[in-house]
Amino acid sequence: MASRILVIGGTGMVGQQLVAASINAGHPTAVLVRPPACDDPVKAKLVDTLCNNGASLVYGDINDRESLVSAIKDADVVISAVGHTSPELEILKQMYGPPVTRVTVYGDGKHQAMFVNEKDMCTLAIKAIDDPRTLHKILYVRPAVNLCSLDQLVSLWEKKIGNDLEKCYVAEEELTGKIQASPFPLNFQLAMVHWTFLAETLEFEQITVSNDASDDDGVEATVLYPDMKYVTVEEYLDNLK
Ligand SMILES: NC(=O)c1ccc[n+]([C@@H]2O[C@H](COP(=O)([O-])OP(=O)(O)OC[C@H]3O[C@@H](n4cnc5c(N)ncnc54)[C@H](OP(=O)(O)O)[C@@H]3O)[C@@H](O)[C@H]2O)c1
Repeated sequence: MASRILVIGGTGMVGQQLVAASINAGHPTAVLVRPPACDDPVKAKLVDTLCNNGASLVYGDINDRESLVSAIKDADVVISAVGHTSPELEILKQMYGPPVTRVTVYGDGKHQAMFVNEKDMCTLAIKAIDDPRTLHKILYVRPAVNLCSLDQLVSLWEKKIGNDLEKCYVAEEELTGKIQASPFPLNFQLAMVHWTFLAETLEFEQITVSNDASDDDGVEATVLYPDMKYVTVEEYLDNLK
C-alpha cells in the first residue's frame, strides 16, 4: 500500500507542489492547516482546492505540540514545507521579481549554479519516499542542462524581454557586509545567495564525477530517475514574461 503522507505547510508555495505531486503519485495525502488560514478567503479557497484534488485536512500548528503529534500519528511520512512570514520576505519577493530595467548581479556573474523548478523538486521528493536507494541518503538534483550563471540568466532574460538591462555588480565584500548588517530572515536569504553564487563553484566536471554515485552520503536524481524531464531555465523564464 502507498505510504500515507502528511504535508505541513501545504498551503505554501513549495507545499502546494508537494501536495499535488503526492496525490498524483497515488499517496493518501493529508495537509496540516492552521485554523486561521481558513479565515482568509484566499487561503480558504486554496484549502478547498486541495480538498477537491483529494487531500484530507488536519487542523494544527507546529507550535501546538498536541495538534502536531495527533496529525503525525496517522502518517507514514511527514514532509515539512514550513516557511517564514515577515515583511522582509515581501521586500525580497519584490527584489527577485522579474527585472525590467536593471538587475543586481552578485559576484562576477560567472559562477554557475543549479536552477531546478520547485515542481520538479517536489515530484522527486515524493518519488524518493518509497525508493530504498534513497534511504538515509541526501538526494542531489543536478541536471546538467539546468546549470546556469547569473550572466547567462540575465542574457537569457534580456533576449526574452527584448531589451538590455542595466547591470549592478555587487562584490563579495559588499554582500558579506550586508549579511552581517541585516536582521533575520534577510541575512539568511542573502547568505543563501552568497552560498549559491559566490561560495559554491559548481563545475560541470564535478557533477559528472558525482554521477558515478560513489558518494556514501548522497545519490544523484538524474542517475536514479533518468527518464525525468526537468523544466529548463528558459522554459521557466517563458512563464514569467
Ligand atoms: N531552496 C529553494 O530554492 C527554496 C525555494 C523555496 C522555498 N524553500 C524553502 O521551503 C520552505 C517553504 O517555503 P515557501 O516559499 O513554500 O513558504 P510559504 O509560501 O511562506 O509557505 C509557508 C507554509 O508554512 C505554513 N506555516 C507557517 N507557519 C506555520 C506553523 N506555525 N504551523 C503550521 N504551518 C505553518 C504556512 O501556513 P499558512 O498558510 O497558515 O500561513 C504555509 O503553508 C522554506 O523553508 C523555504 O526556505 C526553498
